[in-house]
Amino acid sequence: MSHLAAVCLAKGQPFELQTRPTPKPGPGELLIAAKSVALNPADCIMRDQGLFIPSYPTVIGFDVAGLVLEVGDNVPVNTTDDELGPSFRPGVTRVAGYSASFWRSFDPDYGIFQERCLVPWQHVIPLPDTGISWNEAASLPVSCQVPLNAWDLMGISRIGETPSSSTPAPVRKSDVLLIWGATSSVGSMGVQTARLLCEDPTSSFAAVYATAGAVNMQFVASLGADRVFDYKEPRVVDIIVSAAKVDGLGIRHCFLANGKLELCQAVLKAFVGDNQAGKRQKAMIASAPVIPPGTEMEGIETVFVFPSLEEEERLAQFQYWMGWPRKNLASGAIRPSPELKIVGKGLEAINAGLDMLSRGVSCTKLVVEISE
Ligand SMILES: NC(=O)c1ccc[n+]([C@@H]2O[C@H](COP(=O)([O-])OP(=O)(O)OC[C@H]3O[C@@H](n4cnc5c(N)ncnc54)[C@H](OP(=O)(O)O)[C@@H]3O)[C@@H](O)[C@H]2O)c1
Repeated sequence: MSHLAAVCLAKGQPFELQTRPTPKPGPGELLIAAKSVALNPADCIMRDQGLFIPSYPTVIGFDVAGLVLEVGDNVPVNTTDDELGPSFRPGVTRVAGYSASFWRSFDPDYGIFQERCLVPWQHVIPLPDTGISWNEAASLPVSCQVPLNAWDLMGISRIGETPSSSTPAPVRKSDVLLIWGATSSVGSMGVQTARLLCEDPTSSFAAVYATAGAVNMQFVASLGADRVFDYKEPRVVDIIVSAAKVDGLGIRHCFLANGKLELCQAVLKAFVGDNQAGKRQKAMIASAPVIPPGTEMEGIETVFVFPSLEEEERLAQFQYWMGWPRKNLASGAIRPSPELKIVGKGLEAINAGLDMLSRGVSCTKLVVEISE
């Protein structure tokens, strides 16, 4: 068996369509027939600058939606009760998957930009039977994984999971979750997940604040942000700090989805230090973009959002991060975001799609349809 792939032959070259042998899934793996793929800024950097890639040829790409064709050993196949976990049936189960190629040394079998690819079952979102198109599904894995990873890194209790003490004390809702760059793909899902955190009675979060370009502010509010600020307004830091003071809230947690780290630090700086009870208040930023060197600030810890490098721990993380959207899509608590733009059909459309993404997008996720 063979299939078509958009192959990366060398750094800085456009992908070339080539036929590759179709692999068999190993233990814990699914073979997926790609229906749609979504494009991410890292795809552009990897194609154009060779980021992460140890050797060529390879196949890259992160976000895929498709049909499970084959399953390897130790993949759950017989679960009938949703509460017990996912179940994968060849020819039946529809999934959206997050590539594992980074953790497989960029072995081309694990790249997404091809008609058939391998993905560990923990890296996929089993899709609800109805209501989500292939294109919408392809936009989900990275955009859900990154904010959920950010909340974990900041030590925020997972939605619906109370802290380990048996009877938690009543929680005073006094904190803001700030999402900077909320019209980016990862930021828009950040707002939706943050909204659900605020609605959790065991969480101290009371409000979602977000920044966006002026034309997109209403869209971000529709995703669940309580207040949206124009990040291009020169006084944006003062405006956000004043709003929180008026609301009687503190901002000590920020998910930097896109934009300038120093602006996030300037907001959080207004809320660190000793509180009225003399307790030291610290703050944290989880950054999706790479953190520039030399940007440390006292009292504010900044971490780069990335999964564990340890295999077992990472698979357990992904099992939660990818299981969470299934439940929340089915209940209507979240929806695919931001708006989709279909940039073409077939693997040959990916190069032009990445060129478009390199020029910049606003509140848009670019998707390529691979097959019917
Ligand atoms: N760590 C990871 O694992 C990981 C994973 C995925 C992505 N990332 C990184 O996360 C960042 C976002 O990725 P993405 O795919 O979500 O991006 P994207 O959708 O391509 O981002 C475009 C959006 O960013 C907003 N934006 C641009 N400059 C901004 C600024 N200075 N301040 C605030 N917002 C700004 C724009 O807002 P307006 O149009 O409203 O102005 C636009 O809607 C990228 O740096 C990407 O490389 C990291």
